[in-house]
Amino acid sequence: MTEHQMTFRQFLLQDQRRHGISDDLIFLLEDVATACRIISNQIRSGAFSDNLGSTDTTNVQGETQKQLDVIANDEFVRHCSNCSRVAALVSEEVDEVYWLKAAPEAGDYIVYFDPLDGSSNLDVNLSVGSIFSIVETTRALDPGDDASVLRRGSEQICAGYAIYGPSTALIVTTGTGVNGFTHQQGTGEFRLTYRDMTIPPETREFAINASRRLAWEAPVQRYFDECLAGTDGPRGASFNMRWTASMVADVHRILTRGGVFLYPVDSGNRDQGGKLRLMYEANPMALIVEQAGGAATTGSQRIMDVEPTSHHQRVSVILGSRDEVALIESYHGSV
Ligand code: AHG
Ligand code: MN
Ligand code: MN
Ligand code: MN
Repeated sequence: MTEHQMTFRQFLLQDQRRHGISDDLIFLLEDVATACRIISNQIRSGAFSDNLGSTDTTNVQGETQKQLDVIANDEFVRHCSNCSRVAALVSEEVDEVYWLKAAPEAGDYIVYFDPLDGSSNLDVNLSVGSIFSIVETTRALDPGDDASVLRRGSEQICAGYAIYGPSTALIVTTGTGVNGFTHQQGTGEFRLTYRDMTIPPETREFAINASRRLAWEAPVQRYFDECLAGTDGPRGASFNMRWTASMVADVHRILTRGGVFLYPVDSGNRDQGGKLRLMYEANPMALIVEQAGGAATTGSQRIMDVEPTSHHQRVSVILGSRDEVALIESYHGSV
């Protein structure tokens, strides 16, 4: 069998031989892959199974939940609960931490997830995704103490996302590079199609919601203006701009061909600390991007060094091609 046809399971067993990942992590990742396959199927049949549209419920973020937000959450909970080493789950869609074990032990896993990312894209049939992050605990946790799931991103042992685009793909890091697997229709397998994904250090492409321009802080405003100034401006180049309203889709483009993604803190989201969520959006994407040779910052601090204070905490996010992120960071005066 040639390497590019390797199934996800074969890849994980190779990763175990080369880097010693545990049996339990393999089982958990296979369960996550199953959840993503089911979610992909639910999304693709949404118009037939009456799964599109909103519920009449609001999540802890203050967002009206889509039916598929709830379905995807339930699939993640069901499949992640299968692994006996998972002590706790943290979901975008659920206020409280799910405690799965009465007596958690050191070495247990905490799984953080955004079950459906970019869910405003569902009703217009554009790309959405799922994001997950896994931390291995160093001490026994107290199931009554939700604060014990507040771990820095640098403690992640694994992160990944599924993108439900023209094809469904699963992108994963276990801390030794980033690899991607496309879901093969017919066999139902995820097979290795993106080996050793790397982000070029330089780029001429950026992604930001420019409708928030009036709310941005000066460093982001400066960066944006310079990108738009073209060949006669300080960057001496023409820049291209993209925005999909799904972080997964924007990050996937960056992993594929470079670029930077910005969802900075601004005057409209400063009270919350930003828009994107630290534990299940920013941290997993930061680990993936760093493992692919890129960088991820709040503007003034490496994202994975942010000390969490709440499991639904929000944060400023700037990530992607290393040199471009460093430039934006320098505009924030931290370099
Ligand atoms: P989610 O659908 O999980 O709530 O996340 C949406 C996030 C992210 O995916 C995207 O980059 C951003 O919100 C889009 O924000 P705008 O609506 O400001 O474009
Ligand atoms: Mn949401
Ligand atoms: Mn999201
Ligand atoms: Mn979501």
